Amino acid sequence: MPIRPARAATVPEAPGVYEFFAGGGLAGLGLAGFRTLFANDIDAAKVASWRANHSGLIHQGDVWTLETLDLPGRADLAWASSPCQDVSLAGARAGLAARRSGAFWGFWRLMQGLDAEGRGPPAIVIENVTGLLTSGAGADFATVCAALVEAGYRVGALEMDAALWLPQSRPRLFIVALRGIEGVEQAGPSGPFHSPRLVAAHARLPDAVRTGWAWWSLPVPPRRNLDLAAMLEPDAAVDWLSAHQTEALLALAGPLHRARLEAARASGERRVAAAYRRVRMEAGVKMQRLELRLDGLAGCLRTPAGGSSRQYVIVCDDSSVRARRLAGREAARLMGVPDSYRLPVAETAALKLMGDAVAVPVVRALSDGLLWPALTGRRAAA
Ligand SMILES: C[S@@+](CC[C@H](N)C(=O)[O-])C[C@H]1O[C@@H](n2cnc3c(N)ncnc32)[C@H](O)[C@@H]1O
Repeated sequence: MPIRPARAATVPEAPGVYEFFAGGGLAGLGLAGFRTLFANDIDAAKVASWRANHSGLIHQGDVWTLETLDLPGRADLAWASSPCQDVSLAGARAGLAARRSGAFWGFWRLMQGLDAEGRGPPAIVIENVTGLLTSGAGADFATVCAALVEAGYRVGALEMDAALWLPQSRPRLFIVALRGIEGVEQAGPSGPFHSPRLVAAHARLPDAVRTGWAWWSLPVPPRRNLDLAAMLEPDAAVDWLSAHQTEALLALAGPLHRARLEAARASGERRVAAAYRRVRMEAGVKMQRLELRLDGLAGCLRTPAGGSSRQYVIVCDDSSVRARRLAGREAARLMGVPDSYRLPVAETAALKLMGDAVAVPVVRALSDGLLWPALTGRRAAA
């Protein structure tokens, strides 16, 4: 049964969306009220999760193999959460010309084809990591914006951190392009969504691209009131590391992180930390380190490709310290996914699905505050 929040009932002609690089369909969950006309992803496991949680048409395959004939009807919005590995600060940064992130151009080829048939969408959203702002010294961001401006769109971008809505630090870039419809704009950059690095990237754009630029305006959400502890399963329902394993893990913490943990333990209160193992250079030597945060946020979820990308939960309670791995369901909650969402049975698959995805309330905020009003001519109901 689909779990998309209902709003379409109030709109006779609900806007339609094509969801590219759809993964488990979290963008679709945030696009409340939109009708998904078509979705696509190359990954069979993700497509299975999409089907388990959504009704509608999803096609499994490489975006490069799609033709405009495969795209039914006429969408109001095309959403593309294209692969980020080649523009991510964590990767080798070969950029949008590289194999994985280059899939963006497979998507863009379809947009051009739709335009040629007179059914190009009035709204396009391209979601990616913030590394897209600086990869290729800004050339990738400029190329994407230039393609959209040349196609007649007004283009702007927002850097949105899921931490404003959820207890997870997850900054992401959303390039929003509108054509033939009006979005709410402001005169210049201000507020949390026009970050200094976005403003710097805008300043690097060629003049011809900047003439088509818009500083989109989006309401800032009320203060978040849930922290990481509120997302966790009950202590008795999860597997904890043994005392020996916990000791070995905590031994990886450097002096600063060890001091943080010690202060939390000494407080005698229940304190919850999120932690990652990371490789750091120290005095010219590669060291495996455990890095903790005790600010009530989880670190950015990642795909568990290697052992170091799995996040730990560390709980200080009654002067003892226990540690365990973050569970798939907890990762889903940290993405704003309701517990009714059917996750893959294997924990690694669930974590991969969530680590790759876009946070649902962030999409919802973008949809309610900018896309929906632009496409339907009215503000979303509260
Ligand atoms: C960043 S994830 C987006 C996930 C999605 N937004 C979500 O919330 O679940 C990128 C997705 O692109 C898919 N992908 C990568 N290369 C692709 C290609 N050439 N064609 C189609 N999909 C591709 C991956 O399988 C992955 O699910």
